[in-house]
Amino acid sequence: MELILSATPATEIEAGALVVIGFEDQDPLFLSEEALAWLKATRESGEFDAKPLSTVLWHRPAGLKAQRLLVIGAGPKAKCDTALMRRIAGAAVRALKPKGVAELAFRVEGDLASEAIIEALAEGAVLGDFEPNKHQTDPKKHEKRIENVRFSVPEESIPLVEALRRGRTVGEAQNYTRALANEPANLLTPQKMAEEAKALAAGFGLECEILDEDRMRQLGMGALLGVAQGSAERPALIVLKYVPAEKPASEDHLALVGKGVTFDTGGVSIKPSDGMEKMKYDMSGAAAVLGAMRALAQLKPRIPVTAYAPCVENMVSSRAQRPGDIVTSYLGKTIEVLNTDAEGRLILADALTYAVRQGATHLVDAATLTGAIAVALAHLRVGVFSNNEELQARVLKASEAAGERMWALPMDEEYNELLKSAFADLANIGGRYGGAITAAKFLEPFVDGKPWVHLDIAGTAWLDEGKPFLAKGPTGVPVRSFVRLAMEW
Ligand code: BES
Ligand code: ZN
Ligand code: ZN
Repeated sequence: MELILSATPATEIEAGALVVIGFEDQDPLFLSEEALAWLKATRESGEFDAKPLSTVLWHRPAGLKAQRLLVIGAGPKAKCDTALMRRIAGAAVRALKPKGVAELAFRVEGDLASEAIIEALAEGAVLGDFEPNKHQTDPKKHEKRIENVRFSVPEESIPLVEALRRGRTVGEAQNYTRALANEPANLLTPQKMAEEAKALAAGFGLECEILDEDRMRQLGMGALLGVAQGSAERPALIVLKYVPAEKPASEDHLALVGKGVTFDTGGVSIKPSDGMEKMKYDMSGAAAVLGAMRALAQLKPRIPVTAYAPCVENMVSSRAQRPGDIVTSYLGKTIEVLNTDAEGRLILADALTYAVRQGATHLVDAATLTGAIAVALAHLRVGVFSNNEELQARVLKASEAAGERMWALPMDEEYNELLKSAFADLANIGGRYGGAITAAKFLEPFVDGKPWVHLDIAGTAWLDEGKPFLAKGPTGVPVRSFVRLAMEW
């Protein structure tokens, strides 16, 4: 999908569809007289109320060169923000694509023609275009495509072109993450993830290193290897590095760490078979750090950023780890594996320690870590846990600006009681209550006191039902927040 900025007036735009934004309290300004009269009539008849994401479509609109006019509602003008604009663009793309519209144009006028809004619209259009059906072979399922999206603004400018580019870059990065998260586990193994990371590095000018099983054994990553041992698929610890061209003013080095369980059966503590197929998305954290690096390689933040993605498959076999096994982590702490389904924290423990020892000064991880986070926050907000108020505030601010909703949960010292083991330094589960918190508390010692934020995305990385602006399936969370955080450092 091509994105183009132009200053063609609304009445002159030739496209399959012209999309304009209608507020409850303000009609589009620069349409043909006939179109404005039509819009007035649809409002008076109650067919269009301009509520957010409501639409009304007119074929062969009089006084316009476009073949269709789509007016999309945006609620009251005062409540309009970038999050809504992202959705509006996505909803327009998803409404018009099935109709066979190949070229569409958004008319953006008045104070909407700002960098922030153009960026959000461009990003939303790219996100709306994603379909999770690449494995369906019927050509009919793929023939309707949006070739290009034009953004018509009163005046072209370099800042607006840049904003369009940023929106496209971050949107494409999220779609990349979504595509990875959606791949089935037979096609996307830990080794394939590593290949993917290498290809990404080669394509976008990043440094890439893969730690294989032997290297991890040499280093003593017993927690990660304990999970991996049940699978015939070899594990990989992916390291992707972005180094800024100019030496940064500070010594800060941001690490993004993502859980990469390419499939989670639960291991010997096996999951119920109902819905188990969804556990292919248990590598969404890893996919998100790869996607974030893809965007950062293009947007070039001031600080160095390194991504770490521990990738394993959690399987059941005669070699699988058992409940009660005691493993020694890379940090040296011993862990009693009371439940083999609490595997994400085991692989993250070693990856976090590795990131610290490689020189990370600040760490943010993303992981589909617990079902308990969805019990606490439903599928709306990402759970945030931290050992450092300042970094937590930075992450929350970035997520707010990025329109990815998050919510901080407590990390009181007393929760550590729940993770006590009679036989090792730590147990890998914390009992019946507060499961998302005890999972975060489990991770905490492995960052060795460095400022760290843990994002539990188990409830938000997957959409069970599509939205008007987003297809069913992987969401790409928290790529946008990662990118903002690094760009605003
Ligand atoms: N991958 C799961 C968490 C998960 C659940 C992700 C639902 C997405 C949707 C994780 O490895 C897991 O199984 N966690 C257990 C922890 C428990 C054994 C303490 C859980 O949440 O049940
Ligand atoms: Zn699990
Ligand atoms: Zn898991």
